[in-house]
Amino acid sequence: MEEIYVRRSIRKYLDKEISDEDVKKILKAGMNAPTARNLKPFEFVVVRNKNTLLKLSEMKKNSYFAKDSNVTIVLLARELSDYWQQDLGAVSENMLLEATRLGIGSCWVGITPNENYENYVRDVLCIPKDIRVFSFMTLGYPGEEKQPNDNYYEEKVHYEMFL
Ligand SMILES: Cc1cc2nc3c(=O)[nH]c(=O)nc-3n(C[C@H](O)[C@H](O)[C@H](O)COP(=O)(O)O)c2cc1C
Repeated sequence: MEEIYVRRSIRKYLDKEISDEDVKKILKAGMNAPTARNLKPFEFVVVRNKNTLLKLSEMKKNSYFAKDSNVTIVLLARELSDYWQQDLGAVSENMLLEATRLGIGSCWVGITPNENYENYVRDVLCIPKDIRVFSFMTLGYPGEEKQPNDNYYEEKVHYEMFL
């Protein structure tokens, strides 16, 4: 599971095509995440269109790099249980790790719980009101290099009781 440590948020991308086959592998990794009651509430919009990528990059200040991504996947959910956000979190991490394994850089861009961001993306992509917009994930071959993470925080680990 080297990918857990090698995965970093990559916000600079090369102008190089990600194949449909690799996009499918990333989606498949997401679709195999655990979900509450196995309800699989996820839906995805795969965006390659440059104008749409530009609009997504304008959602907020720290989503500017979406315009330079080769593909951005928007992660959506049906509210089939109260756990949909947790489900989508697990889906997201699986997708980030699969992208890393494929040598593709990625960055998670948060949307929920901000209603303005959610409605902005809803308008851009014609998403119905009953579908929640969780996040989007920018993808591209890395245009920057980052060191792997190597974190362990002993002070955050409590044995048997908190104190
Ligand atoms: C819920 C969530 C929302 C995030 N939203 C953004 C975002 O809007 N823009 C961004 O550039 N990075 C975003 N990130 C990426 C974090 O900034 C990044 O994971 C963190 O700084 C650690 O860096 P690393 O991913 O390289 O280990 C988000 C990450 C998570 C988990």
